[in-house]
Amino acid sequence: MIIERIIFLSDVHDCHIDWYGTKTADRMEKMVKDIAERQKTHPADLFIILGDVSLDFWMWNEKGSYLRTPSVSNTDHFVKNYMTRLPGPAYIIPGNHEQYGNEKWMELTGCPRSYIIEGGNAVFILLDNFAGNLDPTEHSDGTHTQTNCDMVKHVLEQYPEYLIFLCAHHFDPATESEEFRELLAENDQIVALFQGHTHLSNVIPGDERTGGKPILQTGNYSYTGVKGDPSASFWGWRELEFEDDGTIRSFYHVPESHARHGEGTVDVEEHDQDEWEICIPFDEDYEYDEEE
Ligand SMILES: [Fe+2]
Repeated sequence: MIIERIIFLSDVHDCHIDWYGTKTADRMEKMVKDIAERQKTHPADLFIILGDVSLDFWMWNEKGSYLRTPSVSNTDHFVKNYMTRLPGPAYIIPGNHEQYGNEKWMELTGCPRSYIIEGGNAVFILLDNFAGNLDPTEHSDGTHTQTNCDMVKHVLEQYPEYLIFLCAHHFDPATESEEFRELLAENDQIVALFQGHTHLSNVIPGDERTGGKPILQTGNYSYTGVKGDPSASFWGWRELEFEDDGTIRSFYHVPESHARHGEGTVDVEEHDQDEWEICIPFDEDYEYDEEE
């Protein structure tokens, strides 16, 4: 599969809370419609969903939770009603609000909690960084775990000529292992990291804790992560583009939105923001797998 464009979605929170005066069902329908519109002019080859599609193990107000009786899985609702309507192959990993064990997660989504996607000359490692205390029986916000470095090393060995992108619901550089820092610093194959969780869309520049690799944040389609004016990172998704000359570009795409915010409104015109770009020319002698 040749990849020219990928859409990263995260923190869409199909749940019992209505943000910005917009009913959840209307917000989710708008998201599907916005993506379908975008697809007409900027078609994506695949969709990667970086978790927090629900609030399934969150028990405040006793609402909307997988733990209450009768049990409600909004992960199941999201997959059946929205994920299946995305206009291309869609892959998902859990966030801190989808603390299903691997078996149940597979049953609900058809995907494991962590795996890889290969396309063109790139490999996306979808990591499970909330792998602790799965299948909780009481309120849980998820338990963060360090990046599985063995999985990353294995991919580096298996795909020595490919570009590697690490994707997780959240990386916490402050609590990652020394091995993680060394892996990122010593392997130029690893280009960038993608994460959700913060609900923000900015690019966090690489530093010594990430081996100099940037973390590209994938925003939200629920509520922003900043106090005050929500238009700084409103509903949208992050796109990643590959060009023939080796240019790799990513930006947060914000479709037009009109919603309520407090006593006022939030009005956002369609635009791109939080851009990042790098150029890594192809190795033309290497035969990448183009058959899939
Ligand atoms: Fe999260």
